[in-house]
Amino acid sequence: MGSKRSSTASADARAFPGPRGLEHARVLNLAGGDVRAALDACRATHGDAFVFGVGAIRFHWFLAADAFRFVLQDAADAFGNAGAYGFLEPIGGTGALIATDDPLHLERRRALQPAFHAREAAAWSVLADEAMAGFVAGAVERGAGALVPDLRPVVLDVVLDVLVGPATRRRHPGLATDLAAMMAFANLPMLAQQVRLPIPATPWAAFLAARRRADDAVLAEIRARRADAVDERGGVLDWLLAGDADPATRLGERELRDQIVGLLSAAFDTTTSAIAWTALLLARADLRAPVADELAEASSAALGPMGDGVVKEALRLYPPASAILRRVRQPVAWAGAPLPVGARVGLSVWHLHRDDATWAEPERAEPRRWTERSGPWAAPRDPFAYLPFGHGGRRCIGEGLARTLLHAFVRQAVPRATWSPLDPAVRPEGTTLLPSGGLRLRWHRT
Ligand code: HEM
Repeated sequence: MGSKRSSTASADARAFPGPRGLEHARVLNLAGGDVRAALDACRATHGDAFVFGVGAIRFHWFLAADAFRFVLQDAADAFGNAGAYGFLEPIGGTGALIATDDPLHLERRRALQPAFHAREAAAWSVLADEAMAGFVAGAVERGAGALVPDLRPVVLDVVLDVLVGPATRRRHPGLATDLAAMMAFANLPMLAQQVRLPIPATPWAAFLAARRRADDAVLAEIRARRADAVDERGGVLDWLLAGDADPATRLGERELRDQIVGLLSAAFDTTTSAIAWTALLLARADLRAPVADELAEASSAALGPMGDGVVKEALRLYPPASAILRRVRQPVAWAGAPLPVGARVGLSVWHLHRDDATWAEPERAEPRRWTERSGPWAAPRDPFAYLPFGHGGRRCIGEGLARTLLHAFVRQAVPRATWSPLDPAVRPEGTTLLPSGGLRLRWHRT
């Protein structure tokens, strides 16, 4: 649909479509509770691209693959990340990788990239397998319980080990809890996050208190390593500190803090959510059985195609990064409608992955989409139809770690247990689409 695109605003520009007047008020009201419901309502009237909202929550939304290609590839230079993820800024600050624009972003990303190289993954796999084996043993022992609150600390520990090293976890035992409390604020509905009054017992006050403690811990760790006052080091933090060797690449304390807290916060609720939805799919006997067979026959530790297909379906149906956000940096237009500089842009990955123009029966979990290369189920060949980890220069830097944890869960849980949901309907909630009720499960030893 190349005719829709243009990279500069033309003189005979038309207004960007979207709800007005009463319809706008209705959509805003819907968005207060559930942004996806508001997007559904807008799509019914305005199609796959529209604008709604006010102030910091006014977004130009795009729901289909051709617009993802435009924003993330063809006209990528016209869009930036700085100021786009307002809900993450209180956590990771303006120095976090996700919040910076090129050329600074490129420089920082290059410095970080080696720490996430595939050769590190073997070590992550050992950590992740051990953590997930322990988690499954505990879950089976308890017999029933909500998955998310039990799994989140397990994921957090692995993420902390990889990013700041196990010794930091021991030196600052409260860090994991404080990070989880900070993310809880970012998972509130967008409107609720706008209420930032420092009144005791409000979510914002709890957030500020958790951030103060987490910052103290991270800054103490940075200072101790710089002063060479620690016995044990390790993790991605050491890669960042390696920049100290050259005054041109030495990061300030605040920037280091933003990088580390930004990485930590991008990592654990997204991955916990993805594992939870994978678990819900694997509660179904028809999806579990082929994965169990495959694991029983496997000669290596790698997940087979059916297991991988279930993980991919969980990420398709419940993408933890449910929207990719941008700010317009240069004048640009879509289908003749201009997007002004500074405008906020939202790419709804949720809608992309459930688009019935590209996916057969999109609501159905069907691992064959990923094992069959042709036929009715085969996944679309368009690379912009499926983007759980984003695309291009801003693609998720932690994808390998997230996949390692997801695969470890499947490998460790399926041979040891079966499980069934205790609630009849589970809904995705919050920014990272965590399952409602924390996904309450009953576990059975196999
Ligand atoms: C299932 C789990 C995860 C999902 C679905 C996910 C998804 C994404 C997506 C879609 C983006 C692109 C955002 C954009 O284009 O603006 C992204 C970026 C990012 N992710 Fe992840 N992520 C996951 C886990 C992780 C983990 C484990 C880490 C850290 C170790 C991480 C760190 C980051 C960072 C730092 C960025 C910003 C990259 C940049 O702007 O250059 N993510 N993630």
